[in-house]
Order: sequence, then C-alpha cells, then structure tokens
Amino acid sequence: MKITIFGSGYVGLVTGACLADVGHEVMCVDVDADKVARLSQGEVPIYEPGLETLIHQNLDAGRLHFTNDAKAAVEFGLLQFIAVGTPSDEDGSADLRHVLKVAETIATHMTEYRIIVDKSTVPVGTASKVERTVAATLEARGAAIEFDVCSNPEFLKEGAAIEDFSRGSRIVIGTESERVRQTMRECYGPYNRQRDKLMFMGVRSAELTKYAANAMLATKISFINEMANLAERLGADIEEVRHGIGSDPRIGYHFIYPGCGYGGSCFPKDVKALAHTAEAAGHPAHLINAVEQVNARQKSRLFEMVSDAFDGDLAGKTIALWGLAFKPNTDDMREAPSRALMEALWQAGARVQAHDPEAAEECLRIYGNREDLDLTEHRDETLEGAHALVICTEWKAFRTVDFVKLRERLVEPVVVDGRNLFSPESARDAGLTYYAIGRGASVRPVVA
Ligand code: UDX
Repeated sequence: MKITIFGSGYVGLVTGACLADVGHEVMCVDVDADKVARLSQGEVPIYEPGLETLIHQNLDAGRLHFTNDAKAAVEFGLLQFIAVGTPSDEDGSADLRHVLKVAETIATHMTEYRIIVDKSTVPVGTASKVERTVAATLEARGAAIEFDVCSNPEFLKEGAAIEDFSRGSRIVIGTESERVRQTMRECYGPYNRQRDKLMFMGVRSAELTKYAANAMLATKISFINEMANLAERLGADIEEVRHGIGSDPRIGYHFIYPGCGYGGSCFPKDVKALAHTAEAAGHPAHLINAVEQVNARQKSRLFEMVSDAFDGDLAGKTIALWGLAFKPNTDDMREAPSRALMEALWQAGARVQAHDPEAAEECLRIYGNREDLDLTEHRDETLEGAHALVICTEWKAFRTVDFVKLRERLVEPVVVDGRNLFSPESARDAGLTYYAIGRGASVRPVVA
C-alpha cells in the first residue's frame, strides 16, 4: 500500500524505513530541502543501529522516496502519517504548531479520502484538533472530501528502534472507524503475524496510553534513584536492594537501574507535558510532578560528588568524562546528565576532557570549540592530567577497567561512577576513592 510520512526526524525515518522494508511504498516528506537531498542519496543524519542499511536497501529497491513536495506527498498515500516534532513550550506543554501545520497542508492538497495518522507524541485531544484543522481548511476551500484521523503512538527506544518497531509488544491504534481499522490492519499486517499485537481503542485512550507508558517508566527510575539516595544515607547498597525488589515479578527488574537521572527526547518532555495536561484538566498530578523533581535533583548528583571529593574547590581542576550521550548506542545528548555535569563543572572553573564513542560531533555542535572542553578520540586519553574520572553513560567500552592503571594515571584517585558499573570493594582495594549511586560511598552513613 502507499504511505506518506510527514517529518523525516527520528520517528518518521524509522517508521518509513520499516514500513518500506515489508513491501509498502513509502514517501517521506520534509520541509528541509537539504535533508531531503541528503536522505535521497542515502545519507542518514542520525545514528541509529541498522537504520542506514535499511534506508539504503529500500531506496535501492525503489520502495522508499524522499521529497519536499507536499502536494505530491498528499496525493501519494492513502495513509498520511504525521511524525513531526512536538517540542516543549516554555510552560512544559507540547507545542503543536508543526503537527497542525501538517494537518493544514494535507487538507490544502487532498483531493480524495485520506486517513491522517498521529504518530508524533501528542497530548490527549490532539486528534480532535487535527480533525478540526482539516475540516476548517477543507471548508475554506469549499471542498467536501471525507477523511479520518486516528492516533498511533510509537514506543521506540533509541538504539533499539528497528527492533522495537519490528518486534514491539503492541501496536496501539485509537479510532472509532471500521475503515481505519481495516486499513491499519493492512498497514501493520507484516508486523502482526506471530500474535495479534494490534490494540484498537478510543482515540483519547490511545493518546493517553503513550504518556502513561512513559510516565510509568520514568516513575520507576525516579523511585529507584530516590531509594538510592536514601540507601546512601542509611548505609545500604542500592544494588542489593534492587536485586531484592526486582525478584518480585510484580515489580520486575526492568527500569529500576539507579543512575544519574533519565534524559533523552522522550521522558523529560513527556513527563512535563503530562504534568501540564493534568494541571490544565484541573487534576494536578502530584506523583508526576515529583518524578520530574527527583530527576532534576538526580542530575546534579554527579557534580555534588565531584565537588565533595575536592572540598568544593574545582577551579583549575581537569575532570575526565566518559559518556556524553544520554544512554549507550546513540549520539543523542538531549537532556543528557553529562550536560548538567559539564555546565556545572565549567561554572566552577574546571576543565573537561571527554570521550564518547558516538556523541563527540553532537557535543561540538551544542557547545562549539571552547577552551575548557577537550574531546578525545580514545577513552584513556581523557585521563591525561585529569584529577578525577566521572562516568555518565554505560557504554560497553567503559565496563572493563584496570583500576591500578587508572589510579596511576589520575592526578587524584577519584572515580565518580554515575551508572554503578563497578564493584565498590574492588575499586577501593585498588586505592581509588570511588563514588557511586546509592552504594554508601559518597555520604557517610548517618544511621548506626
Ligand atoms: C523511551 C521509552 O523507553 C520508549 O518506549 C519511548 O518510546 C521513548 O522514551 P528512550 O528515551 O530512547 O526511550 O530511552 P530509554 O532506554 O527508555 O532510557 C531513557 C532514560 O532512562 C535514559 O537516560 C536511561 O539512562 C534512563 N534509565 C533507563 C535509567 O536511568 N534507569 C533505568 O533503569 C532505565
């Protein structure tokens, strides 16, 4: 079937490439002409394992096209996916400008029945707004053309997006229309063979499902981080506690890894947007607000620990930093804990020597060339003349370390591990001052 996808960002590209890969004809449309030209040549602007290969294969097979011709794109697909960005407004609500602009574009050019699919993460009620925008634009044209709007949120994780699209746990579709149900069954048929993963529900329920899923996961993370900070004060080890609670299947082991706070393009933005939606609906969501506050505090933990190690005097110190991306297998630094740390270190007069297997270019794009930042090609180059090492991202390449060599290379033997990669005993046996998250290292037990 023919499918159009508005927005060649992360979600649009993954959706387009995956749908083309199972035999659909897909046209991806974006307003950025330069991006379209590069994508048409197979140049993929984001790092996502497997995506470039998939795009190449499907470009070569003639099933995937990129364009900035909106009219041609609206003519092309019976399904018109909207996968454009919904950035946070200043007040934390989702900015729907791009989504509604696409709705208007579709209505301006459509000449026959179209199904408009909201793929972007959008607040509850957006499908109704899209519907009203399309209806108003059609009316202004004097055109009486049928259309439907449905909600089809994505649950992709960066770094595993292709896998999540192909083998995700569910495909949520919000619609009341039988025609839409049938078309979406056909669209996702190839990904729905082993068991029926399609979940049809009301449009508003589908919209809320996306936010509820992300908020639940973010809540688990903030919960374990809160426990970690408590464990530190009480002289307990959060890793033992994590094992203890995760073994209960009602709790489970997933998403209870303590760390330096969640980042990325989804959790921070979606938690804030949900809090805003709740407020606007006259039901302030205390739990969601707390999740956000705990995370903001958690992001400052690494700096507090480095500062603690040097009695608050970081001026002139050089800090080695491993990991810039908000998580492994991506070059994405949006809301990454590394950013909060670097900015606080610079503020305190320290220099940073950082290494990340993928995100160096992105870091340069964000911060430009600055005297107090050195990006090194190899992990251990960061240690030259460094007073301390801080680990922000759990890339595989950071998991194996010779502590004795590490101690010899650092000016001061201080390691701050924001991802609990090592055993505190081994680190301390090697003579390191080792700070971790919730492992009794950075705060002396205050309860006997
Ligand atoms: C997330 C959701 O997982 C996905 O379903 C949704 O569609 C988009 O948002 P993503 O942002 O790509 O995906 O990353 P994810 O792997 O979920 O990690 C998010 C953040 O939480 C990262 O900063 C990660 O380090 C942190 N995290 C995750 C923890 O701190 N502890 C955990 O146990 C799990």
